[in-house]
Amino acid sequence: MSYSKKVIDHYENPRNVGSFPEKENNIGTSLVGAPACGDVMKLQIKVDHKERIKDACFKTYGCGSAIASSSLMTEWVKGKTLNQAKKIKNTDIAKELELPPVKIHCSILAEDAIKAAIKNYYQKNKKTKKKK
Ligand code: FES
Ligand code: FES
Repeated sequence: MSYSKKVIDHYENPRNVGSFPEKENNIGTSLVGAPACGDVMKLQIKVDHKERIKDACFKTYGCGSAIASSSLMTEWVKGKTLNQAKKIKNTDIAKELELPPVKIHCSILAEDAIKAAIKNYYQKNKKTKKKK
């Protein structure tokens, strides 16, 4: 299989690899796996008080397309509101990275990861709001 230039670029120079302290309330964290192949993606967002994503990072144990998909996702969500970020589709990623059909599930992993990270953020912050 041949990879697109964009996949290779993200694979060789992944953007935003790393992690944020999970316990902090302004951080949303997700850990999702692809049943098809066992690859795992961790994605985190740092959210400001206006529900805008100021920063994002990831760690992916998986194939080149999964790494590229998560790297691209972290680039795309920065500066977006949670509502905007929720709307990013795996098909947008697959199109941008020119993923072949067998690699579509790698982009689905990235969509699942951002949605789960947003959900995690909301869950944490509902709890803290009640305390106040
Ligand atoms: Fe081998 Fe995903 S199937 S890395
Ligand atoms: Fe499974 Fe890419 S081959 S995430």
